Amino acid sequence: MARTVAPNSQRKGRGTARCYTGRLLTPLIIAIDGPSGSGKGTLARRLADALGYRHVDTGAMYRAVAWRAHQLGYALDDEPAVAGLAARAVLSQDDGRVTIDGHDVTRAIRTPDIDQSAARVARLPQVRAVLVARQRELGASGRVVMEGRDIGTVVFPGAPVKLYLDASAEERARRRANDPAHSGGRTDMGHVKSAMAARDESDSTRTVAPLQMAVDAVYVDTTGWDADAVLAKVLALVRQRAATIDD
Ligand code: DC
Repeated sequence: MARTVAPNSQRKGRGTARCYTGRLLTPLIIAIDGPSGSGKGTLARRLADALGYRHVDTGAMYRAVAWRAHQLGYALDDEPAVAGLAARAVLSQDDGRVTIDGHDVTRAIRTPDIDQSAARVARLPQVRAVLVARQRELGASGRVVMEGRDIGTVVFPGAPVKLYLDASAEERARRRANDPAHSGGRTDMGHVKSAMAARDESDSTRTVAPLQMAVDAVYVDTTGWDADAVLAKVLALVRQRAATIDD
């Protein structure tokens, strides 16, 4: 039997995520992977909110490291230097604000330049090793929704809930072009689509931790679904999964 306790009425959710009516007993790690524009960011944030869990956007960590490397004048292919900065950096993600070494980079990391630089930094094995270790620490005690490309395959291969979000290339490009958080970009769809395809190629073909679906992940195609529908579907999945664990 699934066991839930009364909802915490003090908790302020965002949007319709507030409709969630229970709290999971077992502190879960929920791993969400998928390409950009698949809807995983929106889902992860709202799911975490609905469950009272911490949301960790691991893509923001790669982006912040790329931003800081630029700021410090490091060459992005200077692997030991970039990995060293990733290891030393004070990184935080709270209430949707991303900071690195005291700089609020929430907006600055959502630009086409950082899209490209983050993908380059994410190809470096030493940087990945450092950030994966940091991500494991962040999720160690559970109650976390962690999103990225390798969460279910590398960071938390034993996560009890794994989702792989996807959508058609057209829909992913359209979402990215209309994303208000993604500043400074060209909104020309053709350009967005080709830049996204190049990044997908880089993320999927790198030798270390390429984007791939974990064998035990649930595949969720969000094409044609709005954010509320995706959240409702995934909450149902999570509760189903939690029922077998809490039982
Ligand atoms: O999800 P995003 O677009 O913000 O990710 C930025 C870059 O970092 C992107 O190229 C994919 C990469 N990334 C990764 O390699 N592993 C992760 N766990 C998260 C992101």
